[in-house]
Amino acid sequence: MIDIHCHILPGIDDGAKDMAEALALINLAVEDGVKRIVVTPHLHFGRFDNYLSVIESSFLALQQAVDKEKIQVELAYAAEVRLDSEIISLLANKQLPLYGSYNNQQFMLLEFPHSHIPAGSDILVKHLLKKNITPVIAHPERNRDLLKSPNKIKTFVDLGCWFQVTAASITGGFGDECQALALSYIEQGFVNIIASDAHNLKRRPPLLGAARSKITAIFGEEKSQQLFYDNPYNITASLFVKK
Ligand SMILES: [Fe+2]
Repeated sequence: MIDIHCHILPGIDDGAKDMAEALALINLAVEDGVKRIVVTPHLHFGRFDNYLSVIESSFLALQQAVDKEKIQVELAYAAEVRLDSEIISLLANKQLPLYGSYNNQQFMLLEFPHSHIPAGSDILVKHLLKKNITPVIAHPERNRDLLKSPNKIKTFVDLGCWFQVTAASITGGFGDECQALALSYIEQGFVNIIASDAHNLKRRPPLLGAARSKITAIFGEEKSQQLFYDNPYNITASLFVKK
């Protein structure tokens, strides 16, 4: 499996606190069957100002530690970008941390506030799409607006966004409502990727295996392969090409 949403870079957001925790998270993921990880620290303007240069140097240190420990995993980085008009200038300056390219599109992990979908979100999404960047909207099943009005997702489905559901939502870790909404969105064919959104070992671990078993039991192996391997592989493969 491939995990393309997790907060493993040490000390730069609300994920792993230090290198020891980062390595423990990676070891746990590897034990669970994860072969590739794209770390995605929050880029949340004014809260976690993780611009490309910050992410790059933190990533380098993590890669060196993983090499030293001889952990069998491939690593790359992007970011979980909080919805903000600041995105437009970062994009213009080529400072936006993105996933890779696939089918002439680049992909970007986009986070809405958990409380709601801000007015004008569709305008920013349209701007990104015009620049050939497809937003991958993080955990729609945990957004309070969407929990209240699930059909509001359609605006973004119709625009061509991708959607990433959190593995723990599938296994009930975020409660019954999030679980039901996640499964309903998968059933309707809206969801492209399942990822861990791991932050720490105890409450939000980097585990995908149990969710994968559940998706396979409900929707079959082909769907499971698509959500846990093919789609995350395709949109991040170019990040792993050795330079
Ligand atoms: Fe996240």
